[in-house]
Amino acid sequence: MTDETPNPMLALALQLEAASNNPGQLPPASDALHSRILDATRKLLTGLETPESQLMHLAKAPVAHGVLRAALRIRLFERFDEGPPTATDLARRCGIDVALLVRLMRTLAAIGIFTEPSPGLYAHTIKSQTLRQAEHRAVVQGMAETATLMTALPDFLQTHHWQDPVDVQPTLFGFAHKTDQTMFEWFESQPEQRAIFAAFQSSTAALAVCQLEPFLRSLLIAPSPSSSNDSSDGPREVTLVDVGGGRGAVLRQVCHELDPPPHGRIVLQDLPKVLEGVEGGERVEVMPYSFLDPQPVHGAHTYLFRHIFHNWSDGVVAKILQNTVAAMEPTSRLVIVDLVLPDGGGASPYAAFLDVSMMAFGGMERTEAQWRKILKNAGLQVRRIEPLDALTPGSDQVMEAGLL
Ligand SMILES: C[S@@+](CC[C@H](N)C(=O)[O-])C[C@H]1O[C@@H](n2cnc3c(N)ncnc32)[C@H](O)[C@@H]1O
Repeated sequence: MTDETPNPMLALALQLEAASNNPGQLPPASDALHSRILDATRKLLTGLETPESQLMHLAKAPVAHGVLRAALRIRLFERFDEGPPTATDLARRCGIDVALLVRLMRTLAAIGIFTEPSPGLYAHTIKSQTLRQAEHRAVVQGMAETATLMTALPDFLQTHHWQDPVDVQPTLFGFAHKTDQTMFEWFESQPEQRAIFAAFQSSTAALAVCQLEPFLRSLLIAPSPSSSNDSSDGPREVTLVDVGGGRGAVLRQVCHELDPPPHGRIVLQDLPKVLEGVEGGERVEVMPYSFLDPQPVHGAHTYLFRHIFHNWSDGVVAKILQNTVAAMEPTSRLVIVDLVLPDGGGASPYAAFLDVSMMAFGGMERTEAQWRKILKNAGLQVRRIEPLDALTPGSDQVMEAGLL
């Protein structure tokens, strides 16, 4: 007699197998179901992994980084489309031994960057297609820096007697690079590293599932023209100041597309070296400025800080906020886009990794309670904290505050 009771775990395994054999049927990244399935699968994997398999994955994680960086060195992603995607031809185009190419491609296929439909024949995936673009390859180049910092982490923490290393000099970055400079100061003399960092930033903005454009558009369309510098014979009202906005590619694109154009002045601020060669066009004013100094633009409707404060300790954040608050008027608002760690624990691996990565600058990710405290101490009243994209678990949060 056979046991007719359906085994739910077997049914789950069959469903997962069917889904992974037909990746084309999975919902696209823009679909809310996509992030739900991804989130659940990651948690399932964590639950299923044995201690041994987890340790082996952790121990071997740097291999993927090394292979990806080697692939960049031989310009694999640029050369892939220049001829037949066979091992022999690809090896010839990249100028390396075919046996070595097979080993590198095996690893890249194993981690889902390419596929290998038959032995020695390779095909693109959306991931390898993405790495054909230089700005996205900067993320791979940036892995070397993360590896340098994380190798130095235990010695750095020991040097600080295992106290939380905020407001210490040098930061983890300075410790690992044997310099007293902050990373941003160090970049001044390292154009290549500065370019990698800038490309890394635009890559993460471009690849983000919760796209920045709709949010920026909402900031630019919403403002009611009411600040005191909006008089017919006075200077034009400032709608938005993107403080530490990098090279402003997304902002410029959005401003350019808006029809009718944004109401008032749009200002892009960052350090002078970062803004070198940046043209704002008709709609964006490019303004070199350090947020450690008093904010020169008074009474703007919105002061936007995206991915800024997590780079800095509470003391420096307080200083930046003080410089901004002094320029704000009752009609002004400060808008922060950053992660918010859950107050009750249960942060995602990504959020936890990002928090530790921020030690490089003396910065940190913050819980909602920490954000509220830091804003209140700066004389600001929180008006809203909500996800940038409610459908994507772990999305950045938008925090809006006005004068108390
Ligand atoms: C993590 S990036 C975020 C860039 C941009 N807001 C975005 O969301 O893509 C931090 C930015 O802060 C800028 N920055 C660092 N120190 C600064 C300072 N003292 N004044 C102004 N900008 C600064 C960096 O040049 C960099 O563009």
